[in-house]
Amino acid sequence: MGLLDGKVAIVTGAGGGIGRAEALLLASEGAQIVVNDLGGARDGTGSSESAAGKVVAEIEAAGGRAVASFDDVSTPSGAEKIIAAAVTAFGRLDVLVNNAGILRDKSLLKMDEAMWDAVIAVHLKGTFLCTQAAAKQMVSQGGGGRIVNTTSVSGMMGNFGQANYAAAKAGIYGLTRTAAIELQKHRITVNALAPIAKTRLTEDLPMFQTATDSLTPDHVAPAALFLGSDLCGDRTGHVLAVAGAQMYIYKVVQSAGKFKDENGVWTAQEIADNWDAIAKI
Ligand code: NAI
Repeated sequence: MGLLDGKVAIVTGAGGGIGRAEALLLASEGAQIVVNDLGGARDGTGSSESAAGKVVAEIEAAGGRAVASFDDVSTPSGAEKIIAAAVTAFGRLDVLVNNAGILRDKSLLKMDEAMWDAVIAVHLKGTFLCTQAAAKQMVSQGGGGRIVNTTSVSGMMGNFGQANYAAAKAGIYGLTRTAAIELQKHRITVNALAPIAKTRLTEDLPMFQTATDSLTPDHVAPAALFLGSDLCGDRTGHVLAVAGAQMYIYKVVQSAGKFKDENGVWTAQEIADNWDAIAKI
């Protein structure tokens, strides 16, 4: 018995890296899979059908069922076609893993508008468009569903050279929280992963020059399976982080804060003088 027997799942950007590992694991647990991938370069330029096609062949060779989608997550028609691929091939949709991504790193002072727009389009707009199209399908089916987004330590904490990417990933956090609230009544859970793994996106980072076997996409995939399966229960709006063997959670915390007497209006000087008490967690 697989954790996803009888379920239909979409993994976007599943032609390589983390998405490929997620698609293979979900398929091995019984899900019928739409393997979506535009098949472009790391910066999002170009396209090819070979990446998604190869992963479909791998799933089929292992005895699973999968179809390829080469559509672009960042356009409304692309997102609609990705969801329609699941319904056409397998009759329904139970799990969406929003994983597709690109990088165009540059420090803030050197980043141009095209770098900003491209990264926001694929990550943030793509996650919105696919989530909305999937949620409409899940609501029409009436049986709930599970959506797994992909954020990043960069979005949670910030990272040098990634103003575009960090903003997109932080946006995905806000989208996840809001979609979780809005879709709860339809029994659709919406959670996010924050992975760290050696892939073509990250292979040139210093941390991946060593530690290559301990930070793999195969370490990440079980977290997507958990959030995409009924083992997740009614947990929603969480960010589950995975870095190799370490599994942890990101959450935004609010300090208890401090009140000024008699509903008073703080002065800037008083804020400065009371900073430690205001910020104390
Ligand atoms: P990857 O480059 O191996 O995989 C991303 C895939 O998305 C590629 O196969 C690419 O063709 C596809 N893609 C790009 N634009 C697309 C579009 N418009 N429509 C459909 N497919 C598209 O990279 P990796 O590392 O596997 O990244 C997967 C996700 O994990 C991304 O969202 C990334 O930002 C996120 N992530 C990865 C980390 C890591 O350490 N590798 C760290 C934090 C987040």
